[in-house]
Amino acid sequence: MGSSLFSRVKRIIFLDCLCVLGAQKCPQRWMPVALWRTGLLLCFLSLCACLEEECVLGVVGRPVSLPCFYPKLQGLVNFSIEWRRDSEVVLRSVWRNGENAETLSANSATIPADAAQTGNVSLELPAVDPKEHRMNYSLIVVSEGKQSAALCTVCLRIAASFSPPQLQRDEASPGHETAFFCHSTGGFPEPAVHWLINNTEKPPEGSVRTRTASLPDSRLFNITSHLKVNVSRDTNVSCTIENQPMNESLTSTSYGVKSSPVVGRASEAMWIFSTALCAVVGVMVVVGVAYQVHLDRISKRKKREYQHQQGKRGYKWRNRLREENEAMKPEAKETDV
Ligand SMILES: *[C@@H]1O[C@H](CO)[C@@H](O)[C@H](O)[C@H]1NC(C)=O
Ligand SMILES: *[C@@H]1O[C@H](CO)[C@@H](O)[C@H](O)[C@H]1NC(C)=O
Ligand SMILES: *[C@@H]1O[C@H](CO)[C@@H](O)[C@H](O)[C@H]1NC(C)=O
Ligand SMILES: *[C@@H]1O[C@H](CO)[C@@H](O)[C@H](O)[C@H]1NC(C)=O
Ligand SMILES: *[C@@H]1O[C@H](CO)[C@@H](O)[C@H](O)[C@H]1NC(C)=O
Ligand SMILES: *[C@@H]1O[C@H](CO)[C@@H](O)[C@H](O)[C@H]1NC(C)=O
Ligand SMILES: *[C@@H]1O[C@H](CO)[C@@H](O)[C@H](O)[C@H]1NC(C)=O
Repeated sequence: MGSSLFSRVKRIIFLDCLCVLGAQKCPQRWMPVALWRTGLLLCFLSLCACLEEECVLGVVGRPVSLPCFYPKLQGLVNFSIEWRRDSEVVLRSVWRNGENAETLSANSATIPADAAQTGNVSLELPAVDPKEHRMNYSLIVVSEGKQSAALCTVCLRIAASFSPPQLQRDEASPGHETAFFCHSTGGFPEPAVHWLINNTEKPPEGSVRTRTASLPDSRLFNITSHLKVNVSRDTNVSCTIENQPMNESLTSTSYGVKSSPVVGRASEAMWIFSTALCAVVGVMVVVGVAYQVHLDRISKRKKREYQHQQGKRGYKWRNRLREENEAMKPEAKETDV
């Protein structure tokens, strides 16, 4: 259906062109209509061409296949295939009597082994590099000493994932602006950065400054975005790195703190800890003092009991001494004798 509509459109353009160019007799009154229709359709076609110029997406670190079909290959006996990147030959494959005689390639690029039978000469690239971004690959067939025009031209588009953004919040003194830094690395192409305040508001104009750096050897991007804005400490601020070709949106959020301006989350924890410590020490002191009082009481009672006993024992002791002395007296006399 699409193709029949397309062929009808083509016939109208063809007839209009003939009319405009005067190659065919057409009623005079057709002329203006043909003119504006031709112009309109040319616009439409150039728009189509723009849309059709969508390139094949190659992701860094993943293989990619550049599609190309050339069914006429099945009718050739001796020929060679060349895939070129701009003017540089990436792959050359020589076929004799329908058999692959040899294939030379740069960067391990391949084509299907049954290319001559199926006409599928898609180029398989095991890896892609950001240096190849927007480069054209084209297929050329050489047969009987004649070189064809480019049979397929495929444009390659490169993409690579960014690292999850790191968001840093530099709290200012009250009344001053808070600074936020959002940093991400290693992606391609240049991403878009979006900031959101409390999940809904966009930051005021002129408060965001974004710097991208491309590493000269890899061409991957580093991005640092800087937001300076007057917000309270309980405000959530998020930064999103959007890499459209990768369908990737990476967001990092700095959550606000719900507390007084002086007591942060860390000092709150410290406060709880020290209160608990004070309570424990207090209990220990009270228990210690109570125990000491208890001990003192016990020792006082023991002392009293001891003195009492000592008193009794001392009486007994003196009595016994006296008795013993009295008993020893006669003996002493005896020894004197
Ligand atoms: C193809 O090449 C082979 C070997 O070079 C040769 O013998 C044969 O005649 C060629 N065929 C044609 C059709 O050119
Ligand atoms: C053509 O060859 C490529 C590479 O081997 C493969 O990925 C693709 O599916 C093939 N296409 C068809 C229609 O067979
Ligand atoms: C690739 O091809 C398109 C049209 O086919 C052309 O506009 C573009 O300049 C080419 N790119 C390069 C790098 O040659
Ligand atoms: C900020 O983020 C926290 C944690 O997700 C959430 O509970 C709170 O509602 C957010 N505040 C606002 C104003 O969006
Ligand atoms: C990119 O970021 C990485 C990691 O943060 C850093 O080591 C490197 O120097 C940065 N490169 C440029 C060109 O800014
Ligand atoms: C964000 O939300 C918090 C909590 O609702 C509020 O206190 C704060 O003022 C808001 N910040 C902005 C900039 O709207
Ligand atoms: C992104 O999404 C589009 C449409 O949904 C899809 O064609 C494309 O392959 C996706 N890209 C990646 C890298 O997945």
